[in-house]
Amino acid sequence: MFEKDLLRGKTIIATGGGTGLGKSMVARFCELGANIVITSRRQEVLDEAKLELEKDGAKILAIASDVRKPPEVQNVVDQTMEEFGNIDILINNAAGNFISPTEMLSPGGFKVIVDIVLNGTFNFTHAVGQAMMKAKEGTILNIVTTYAWTGSGYVVPSASAKAGVLAMTRSLAVEWAKYGIRHVAIAPGPFPTKGAWQRLVPPGLGIEKKMKDRIPLKRFGEHTELANLAAYLISDQAAYINGEVVTIDGGEWLKGAGEFNDLDRVPKVAWKAISKKVRKKK
Ligand code: HXC
Ligand code: NAP
Repeated sequence: MFEKDLLRGKTIIATGGGTGLGKSMVARFCELGANIVITSRRQEVLDEAKLELEKDGAKILAIASDVRKPPEVQNVVDQTMEEFGNIDILINNAAGNFISPTEMLSPGGFKVIVDIVLNGTFNFTHAVGQAMMKAKEGTILNIVTTYAWTGSGYVVPSASAKAGVLAMTRSLAVEWAKYGIRHVAIAPGPFPTKGAWQRLVPPGLGIEKKMKDRIPLKRFGEHTELANLAAYLISDQAAYINGEVVTIDGGEWLKGAGEFNDLDRVPKVAWKAISKKVRKKK
């Protein structure tokens, strides 16, 4: 699908790059020739991912940081500059989330998610932005969700924070274009990962089946599908895409949005009778 060297020589920082979708994206970027910096709180998780990713000869830095702590974020930026001399691409992928009735949340429960998702994205964007401004080029890809614009009950901190990240994407797409910095976002629907499933899809409640049934394509996303989309959006082939959010969800959010979409459940044989009744109405 892509030129073999699509990302050759590009230096990419990926937050949350040691697990789940972050790791899958990074693995694809390695295949396409990029230099990679992965960061998250747990050094041991990053080291394990680094070992795996380096098998094919990629150059990986694994630096622990908490996106909520600006000095730790700055340390990632400084070490990346020291090792690679520039930062071409930032992937704001780190996130926190859990399901909870909103009335059962403590202020701390709301704050922890907003701190990771919204403030963490700002902290990395702000620190990496300085380096990109000096270089007069850069691309920032933010991972949001489809409920960033629809909202969703039971994940109110995440929905509120992701909506903020979407607003940040669109705002900075305009404000920082003058520095040669492009902003894009991806809104995934459900892609099975350990991190998300542990916190959002507890087993034994039939949630997973219901989630799949809601998706017009009747399946979850494959990690490679998201990784390829990300590779395209951060590449020079997408140089004129700025401020856009691309949904990759098998049509899930539109299914939820359409007033009459649940008529899916009406069996084909019933439609003749229904149609007869409806046609009679003048
Ligand atoms: C209610 C909770 C809670 C829960 C924690 N809290 N878990 N409240 N329900 N399940 C509250 C605590 O009581 C505390 O508030 C505050 O949150 C901070 O809790 P800590 O445990 O100290 O936080 P911390 O150790 O920093 O861990 C952060 C975390 C954790 C977000 C709670 O789950 C984490 O590390 N997550 C990272 C990975 C992750 O979430 N991945 C999923 C991404 S999926 P008080 O007031 O008591 O101090 C995603 C998109 C999904 O984002 C879309 C799917 C379709
Ligand atoms: P995941 O594996 O749990 O990824 C979350 C990552 O964020 C982890 O690597 C975690 O590493 C890191 N992280 C959490 N708190 C951090 C902090 N304070 N500082 C630094 N790093 C932190 O889950 P995932 O499903 O792959 O999610 C990846 C992204 O996709 C997230 O933005 C999520 O919102 C989005 N998304 C996922 C889905 C899905 O269905 N999977 C759907 C829509 C959107 P540490 O614990 O080591 O810090």
